[in-house]
Amino acid sequence: MALRPRNLVLDVCTGTAGVALEIARHHNGQIVGLDVSHSMLEAGLGAVGERSLDGRIQLIQGRAEHLPFPDETFDTVVFTYLLRYVQEPDVTIRELSRVLKPGGELLSLEFGIPENSWIKALWLIYNKVVMPVMTIPISRGWHRVGCFLGPSISDFCQRYPVDRIAAIWRGNGIPLVETRRLFQGVAIVMWGTKRR
Ligand SMILES: C[S@@+](CC[C@H](N)C(=O)[O-])C[C@H]1O[C@@H](n2cnc3c(N)ncnc32)[C@H](O)[C@@H]1O
Repeated sequence: MALRPRNLVLDVCTGTAGVALEIARHHNGQIVGLDVSHSMLEAGLGAVGERSLDGRIQLIQGRAEHLPFPDETFDTVVFTYLLRYVQEPDVTIRELSRVLKPGGELLSLEFGIPENSWIKALWLIYNKVVMPVMTIPISRGWHRVGCFLGPSISDFCQRYPVDRIAAIWRGNGIPLVETRRLFQGVAIVMWGTKRR
């Protein structure tokens, strides 16, 4: 992320503001975190307050598909683990690009599926067996998450492989989309700059 002084950053689906807080550690500009969930934002507000960053991080409730900001508002827009939760990823990416200034950066982080067949087998065992079983003693809510995550990632990656997502970015004003697979492809970072 190329952060210049006084950049205005939007963290979409900020959740408990973990990414917004991390950006604030490296950047002295203003950050807006947006999420649809009131309870996630409440936890985020607590975390922001604890670090006395209320003056720099603003958290607001809203949907990624209909962002409450004018066109070309932000210098940087980031989103982590969002697209699996929206009905129409194409529409959402168009909306994220709309609020980005020309020359601004769009960045994302999402889970992926390893390409190497051995690592993919381990990944499948982890997601289909370890996660569902390991979460049973924690709570019913965590068990639901443990059962949900693997199928959610598999389903999304089948419908929206990285090349398809990159094509959607390109179709929405980000001509050069770069990607990096982390941890053998378990996570995928994408970034690009909006056409001027
Ligand atoms: C897995 S969490 C990721 C949170 C955060 N980005 C992180 O990496 O820690 C997904 C978040 O997306 C939010 N979310 C889901 N659908 C959304 C939507 N349509 N618009 C905005 N936020 C949404 C959820 O409320 C949740 O906080």
